Amino acid sequence: MKRKHSLAMAALMGLALTVSACGSDDGGDSADDSSSSSSSSADGKIGVILPDTESSVRWESADRPALAAAFDEAGVEYDIQNAEGDAERMTQIADTMIGNGVTVLAIVNLDSESGAAIQEKAASQGVATIDYDRLTLGGSAEYYVSFDNTVVGELQGQGLADCLGEKAANVVFLNGSPTDNNATLFAEGAHSVLDGISSYKNVGEQAVPEWDNEEAATIFQQLYTAADGKVDGVLAANDGLAGAAIGILEGNGQAGKVPVTGQDATVEGLQNVLAGTQCMTVYKSAKQEAAALAEAAIALVNGEEAETTGTTTDSEGGRDVPSILLEPQSITKDNVGDVIDDGGQKVEDVCTGKFEKLCADAGIS
Ligand code: BGC
Repeated sequence: MKRKHSLAMAALMGLALTVSACGSDDGGDSADDSSSSSSSSADGKIGVILPDTESSVRWESADRPALAAAFDEAGVEYDIQNAEGDAERMTQIADTMIGNGVTVLAIVNLDSESGAAIQEKAASQGVATIDYDRLTLGGSAEYYVSFDNTVVGELQGQGLADCLGEKAANVVFLNGSPTDNNATLFAEGAHSVLDGISSYKNVGEQAVPEWDNEEAATIFQQLYTAADGKVDGVLAANDGLAGAAIGILEGNGQAGKVPVTGQDATVEGLQNVLAGTQCMTVYKSAKQEAAALAEAAIALVNGEEAETTGTTTDSEGGRDVPSILLEPQSITKDNVGDVIDDGGQKVEDVCTGKFEKLCADAGIS
């Protein structure tokens, strides 16, 4: 184990290691993988560990470039890596980053236990930590930067209710990973809306381990069969899970007839919304989240306090974590263009092939 470095030492080491190899990420653009700046406005180096490339395309396609842009703009050195869904790998990356002299380490944990262990080790080496997007229960992060995830769930619940109307409806819930605190909040938010509508019946609910999209298809098929195909709406926690459910509905001639929710405003999610096979998605601007992380990290580097929106209770650790929580936006066919206008996706990515006409019909060009 390396001993604690002084800030100056850490900065020097960071400079010496600016071209560290880290190109193993699927969607990674080498220009984005690691960067240094000779005109750093903050005398430190930020390490970020993203969780995987499979549970959502957002981490590599939206978060990585947004984080790189935010750190570049702030003129601070950084190293962004991806744990590829492997908690041990995340631990190793964290050890290497700490050894390489990061002054702040931000993680999107793969589970609270491994996340808390990483944070404890970082603290023992004098490295401050931030929870990016997912709260580490029992962790020790200085800040938690995310969206209001209960509101995300409420938007999903309300979105599904808007698509279903007031008629009697059988609803299936396809929740996110049980190891992700966000998934708990999404489900709580969705239930707080849907459980209050007496004409709806919960006919099946399951969490999808690691948000695995393939497993989601198997799970949804089982829930669908168990409900005798009498499913009128699907609360899917993100666009990947939505895609899995839509695939099964398609096989049963039900796609487009059964509303499905989502989250992340991915290219596929937006295309499904335009095509009418998905009733809504939730847009969470990576640009905003990355900028909030950069601000909090730079405050820590400079020994200052970051501006927060409040605190979040860590029920396991029994502490209130200073938080910066942003506002998510509900996206339906009517406002897909908002995501594109905000730079959340590119028109040429969403409006390809058969979606060109659907985009034109929706006034997106
Ligand atoms: C994030 C979602 C994402 C999911 C799977 C959650 O913690 O908030 O945006 O879809 O993880 O990666």
